[in-house]
Amino acid sequence: MTKQNWEIRRLTPDDAPALAAFTQRQGWPHGEPEWRRLIDLGPSSCFCAARAGALVGTVTSVLYGQALAWIGMMLVDIDHRRKGVASALMETCLGHLRAERVQRVMLDASEMGRPLYERLGFRALHRVQRWEGPATEFFGRRFRRIEAADMGAVIGFDEARFGVSRGKVLLRLQAEFPRLGWIDRDAGGRVHGYILARRMGERVSIGPWLHDSPWGATILLNTALGAVRGQVVSLDLPDRNPAATSILADRALRVVRFNTRMIWGDAAPPQDEPAAIFGVAALALG
Ligand SMILES: CC(C)(COP(=O)(O)OP(=O)(O)OC[C@H]1O[C@@H](n2cnc3c(N)ncnc32)[C@H](O)[C@@H]1OP(=O)(O)O)[C@@H](O)C(=O)NCCC(=O)NCCS
Repeated sequence: MTKQNWEIRRLTPDDAPALAAFTQRQGWPHGEPEWRRLIDLGPSSCFCAARAGALVGTVTSVLYGQALAWIGMMLVDIDHRRKGVASALMETCLGHLRAERVQRVMLDASEMGRPLYERLGFRALHRVQRWEGPATEFFGRRFRRIEAADMGAVIGFDEARFGVSRGKVLLRLQAEFPRLGWIDRDAGGRVHGYILARRMGERVSIGPWLHDSPWGATILLNTALGAVRGQVVSLDLPDRNPAATSILADRALRVVRFNTRMIWGDAAPPQDEPAAIFGVAALALG
């Protein structure tokens, strides 16, 4: 396959069914809802490579204003690898982000993807552990569900700890999965932590998961796991927060793989609060 055989173009919501079939052929679990969400969140910043109308590769990016873009869904058809498809997709995407004057570009790299990103000028920050397993119920205190009216306070809380406003993503996740978000908010209205989850096929992906104390983070996780007990869940934990790992350690969940959180070029990462971030957003959202 020479470069002339394939073209790179923007993704549109109409591509969602073909994208779901493409990812499932490659063994990734993302379906139409995940693709629609990513294209809605990044309407001009998600791209594919297509050959004779058929998808051979994808990459998505979601912009958090100009402060940060998050890259995900870097996937090339197994029969079209090592031919420059991923490099060309990344160059198109990075060119677009540069034109948008985005200050930082970040991603979570698989072992397979890491050399590609290093070649393009990304550097490693820390590792992210993927935990998976059945959700089991823990008895004890529970926090309440997030209401739409909490979202302004949740977004402000998150920005002060993540370092960049993720408002549009958090609003979308809460609106799409209103029964899968919980909050620790005191009588004075102050937020101490929150957790969101979303369904992906038969599974539940948990994150973001933030709290100002390990004690509260534990209750948040217990609340979420109790609500989806018996179902398979996955969580992505930054390994620079050892408290997160120790909360997970005595449950039925196991580490199934590691990703590497990376940033492009010399940019400084957002000024975040590592001790408050127990679980990241995961699945191409940061
Ligand atoms: C990681 C992945 C996206 C790379 O896609 P790709 O299209 O094969 O990547 P490229 O072809 O641009 O680069 C891969 C290699 O092929 C080489 N290459 C590029 N063009 C080439 C060509 N025309 N002929 C021969 N080799 C070529 C590159 O130099 C690179 O070599 P290196 O790894 O030894 O340095 C792909 O392997 C994949 O989909 N993996 C599974 C999903 C995954 O892990 N994605 C990353 C998530 S973070």
